[in-house]
Amino acid sequence: MKEKLKRTNFAKELREDIIGQKVNVAGWIEDIRDIGKIIFLVIRDITGPIQVIVDPEKFSQVRDIPRQSSIILSGTIQRSKAKEMKVELKLEEIGEIYYSKHPLPIDPTGRLESSIDKRLNARALDLRNENVSKLFVIRSHALEIVRQTLREMAFLEVNTPKIIGSASEGGANLFEFDYFKNKAYLAQSPQLYKEQLILALDRVFEIAPYFRAENSNTVRHLTEFYSVDIEGAFLDYYDIMEIMERLIKNVIIGIHNLGYLDFKTNEFVKKAIETKFERLTYQACIQELKENGENVVYGDDLSDLSLRKLGDLHPGFYFITEWPLKLKPFYILENENDHFLSDSFDLQLGYLELISGGSRQYDPHKIRNRLADQGLQPDNFSEHLKVFDWGMPPHAGCGLGLDRLIMSLTGSVNIREVVLYPRDPDRISP
Ligand code: 4AD
Ligand code: MG
Repeated sequence: MKEKLKRTNFAKELREDIIGQKVNVAGWIEDIRDIGKIIFLVIRDITGPIQVIVDPEKFSQVRDIPRQSSIILSGTIQRSKAKEMKVELKLEEIGEIYYSKHPLPIDPTGRLESSIDKRLNARALDLRNENVSKLFVIRSHALEIVRQTLREMAFLEVNTPKIIGSASEGGANLFEFDYFKNKAYLAQSPQLYKEQLILALDRVFEIAPYFRAENSNTVRHLTEFYSVDIEGAFLDYYDIMEIMERLIKNVIIGIHNLGYLDFKTNEFVKKAIETKFERLTYQACIQELKENGENVVYGDDLSDLSLRKLGDLHPGFYFITEWPLKLKPFYILENENDHFLSDSFDLQLGYLELISGGSRQYDPHKIRNRLADQGLQPDNFSEHLKVFDWGMPPHAGCGLGLDRLIMSLTGSVNIREVVLYPRDPDRISP
């Protein structure tokens, strides 16, 4: 029996310094071009394309292989005559071929464009497009930088349950299901757990999916999204803003250094790392909106329209701080100087909200009152509130929408582009 070939090199490893060497490469066939005397095969793997030169005596072995079939082959590296590449492979032996069945649902080379719905229905194949897979390479690196940065600042990575018995944020956007004869919910956020954990673990972070039963069909909402949540004892909302600014700048610098962000086409990210993120109070935003002819009321939430206007006026990253307390969840601390306001912030990138955070209320009596004010049953939270009697220090934290961050850094217009298998009100498969 013929011995099976094993990959020796990825595409990006084929460089001039190994000209003359025999290598085995593996990937899929992106293109076959027959120009008479030669056939050019373009093989691609996750790291890039490889041009393979096929001589006439091997034509019969390659001519009829359907595009997008997977293949492993061996050949010798030689200098390429083509301008776009330094080296190519001269085919010596074809190993196995794993055939693709045509017609395929989409053309992953992108020459034939498909709608995002068609692409998502064939996501595994869609990822063979370099522009698509690149987004997930960036996402993977960004996650690594997030973990590294937070650990450097003494945050411990934790994992909290996603099946929960009561609401963590309040509100009506919980997915409810039967849990043996009881009701259970999918976690909206790790809010209550992360607050409890700072009692002993001091600073924690969690990167996990959360679930919101919101019937929103927009390019920035999903029913399952990833959040980077942090929480720290003896920190306030200003400390959290500093930490998150550093985190985002590190992510930008990191993925730029890896060659994945082009500052020429992404002006705002270049500016972002050179300047301090702007900090605007909610009050100043209302003022500015009024001056720009918007019909806004002090105390009301900022509508989508208002946020778009603010985004036009402040196209980069900026914090909106000290929101009216009534607009914020029960666990947010009221502002010492003005009880109408709270020690809270959102980080915006233009119109898009990337982060919500704040200092936390740590007096359990006040939390009970706030729960009642918001129409929630304080007794449903007694498991949580008992922890506050065990020496709960002041603390603060936030949640960063990871998908939204990756979406904006990569210039994607739809959050679905940066999520492998997005979930929204109309999509729960594949
Ligand atoms: O603003 P949110 O709801 O805040 C919380 O969950 C708080 N517990 C955070 C805290 O520690 N105070 O969600 C945090 C972030 C948002 O700013 C947004 O970026 C993202 O999570 N997010 C969503 N992303 C995509 N789809 C959705 N449906 C999202 N909901 C929130
Ligand atoms: Mg928010």
